[in-house]
Order: sequence, then structure tokens, then C-alpha cells
Amino acid sequence: MNSISIEKGYVEKKIDPTLDLFEEISHLKKTKNAIILAHYYQNADIQDIADYIGDSLGLAQQAEKTQADIILFAGVHFMAETAKILNPSKKVLIPDLKAGCSLADSCPPNDFAAFKASHPDHVVLTYVNCTAEIKALSDVIVTSTNAEQIVESFPKDQKIIFAPDKNLGAYLNKKTGRNMVLWDGSCMVHEIFSLEKLIKLKAQNPSAKIIAHPECEAAILEHADFIGSTSALLAYTKKTEHKEFIVLTETGIIYQMQKASPDKTFIPAPPNNNCACNDCPYMKLNTLEKIYNTLKYEQPELHMDPLLIERAKKPILKMLELSARFGL
Ligand code: 13P
Ligand code: SF4
Repeated sequence: MNSISIEKGYVEKKIDPTLDLFEEISHLKKTKNAIILAHYYQNADIQDIADYIGDSLGLAQQAEKTQADIILFAGVHFMAETAKILNPSKKVLIPDLKAGCSLADSCPPNDFAAFKASHPDHVVLTYVNCTAEIKALSDVIVTSTNAEQIVESFPKDQKIIFAPDKNLGAYLNKKTGRNMVLWDGSCMVHEIFSLEKLIKLKAQNPSAKIIAHPECEAAILEHADFIGSTSALLAYTKKTEHKEFIVLTETGIIYQMQKASPDKTFIPAPPNNNCACNDCPYMKLNTLEKIYNTLKYEQPELHMDPLLIERAKKPILKMLELSARFGL
């Protein structure tokens, strides 16, 4: 097993093309007591092989309570870190170590520590899309599903720093009437939607409802009929009577939307480049082949400093406690 190379960030090992990867992965999961946790932005085949598909909050909750020996995280690095922090005795595997996040990258720990020091009387609320080092500098972690309720759990006059997503922060400030100090970070996938193309698309599809993730810019969110986390967007498309939607988030979620509502139409909103839709380049690094090799060779494994785990765990547990209190 030591001869396996992960130099490129994933196991480089040729796979017999005659293998049925679905069957092989299912077999490996069973024999190794492993589970696959997948985010909604994963490719459809990965969603189909996963034991649980969800948003950042749901995935953290599943990681905390699993009895499996191995967690294979089909998402991005900060999500796997959160799983390891919540359940450190488990072996956490990542199909590709290079599956990072532009939002997490936009908040370097040293700069953030200085920013925090310059706002001494502020509580630090941090979006889960950040590194473990940033979590360790935070008081409470939030996800897009629980952010509004967690912000509202603080007194109106409490001074708050919100990091790292300035778009989600601005959206929360508007919704809650707060004036949280915002870190200047953003997600490359949600910032790239084109307002001009969105307006055109709506004109061509006047009965379509515009649904958007709060990581989008304010100018885009102003046009949205519904704003929410990936799971909230999915739930909305299921329960509403509307039949047509323009979707402003990563396209992976459309697979579950279409599956749950085969009679409805989902139109991915175009970005301001020449691509037709909007994929997260990090999320899409994961493939069924990499998942097969990762489970087979149990590499790459995520290793973390136990002290960092302890420091980062506190604000995540606080989030899970509050979420349970809100029934989330
Ligand atoms: P949620 O699925 O928690 O809404 O997060 C979206 C996202 O950008 C994850 O990287
Ligand atoms: Fe990060 Fe954006 Fe990709 Fe989510 S969609 S992992 S926030 S870059």
C-alpha cells in the first residue's frame, strides 16, 4: 500500500476498464464499513453512489453521528476537515486533496487574526466555508441553512464580525437589520453569474421563478424570488406549485431537483463568460474513478493536528447545538 503515489493529490493507479465501478465501490463500502458523504454539487454518478447527499450542515451532522470506520468525503477540503474535527477517531478520506475552495482561500489565517484583533469587542461568526485555522479563531460557525437564525440569536446591539463571505454577510445584514463587519471574501462560482444574461433569460422564460444561493452578489439576489441554501432551494422546488426555475447556484444540485420533480424545468443561470453553466472546479475534481481508488487504497487520508481539532471543534459544536435548538 505504501507504493501508492498521491503526488498529484489523488491515487494514480490504472483501473481495469471492464470493472463495474458502482458494484466495486458498493462492495468496498460494505467490506470496509465505510460511508460516502457527498455534497449536492458533486457529479450525478457520485450522488448516486453516496450514502448521504446534503448541504454543509447536513453533511456535518451525518459526519458527527456516523458509526462507520471510514468516511469518504465527496466534497471539498474544508468539508472533510469539518468531518474529521467532529469525529476524529474515524479515518477520513478525500478523493482529491486539491479539491479546495476559493472562498476558504480568500481568508488567510494570519490576516484574519489581525482583523479580529482590530475588532476586540466583536463576536466572530464564521461561515463553514473556511479552513480549520479560521474556525479555531471563531466563536460560532454558521452554514447557509442556519446563518440567519444564529445571527438573530445574538442581541441586536452585539457587535459581530462575519467572515469570510461578504455576499452572504451583506445578505444577512439586510435580512436581520444588523451591521456586521464583513470580511472581503467570496465564492468564484457564485460571483460569476451575469446579471445581464439573467435578465434576458427571465424575459425569455417569464413564468420561471428565479432561485438563488445567498453566496451570489446583491445585484443578482435582488432579482430572486427565493433565496436559500442548497437544501432550502431543493425543498422550495419540491413544494411549490411553480413549474419552471432559473437556478443560480452550482449546477450539481439540479440533478436532485430534476429527480424529485421530473415534471418541472430547471434552467441553469449563465455565468459572465462563454460557458453555458456554472460548475465549481474544485467540487468537480472528484470522479467515480478517484473514489474507487481512494476507498481501495485508503488514500489520500486527511490528517490533522489534534490541538487544532480541539480549538476548531468548539465553534462547530456551538453551531450544531444551536441548529438542534432551532430544529434544523
Ligand atoms: P450549502 O450546500 O451549505 O448551501 O453550501 C453551498 C456551497 O457553496 C458549498 O461549497
Ligand atoms: Fe467553494 Fe464556491 Fe466551490 Fe462552494 S462552490 S466549494 S464556496 S468555490
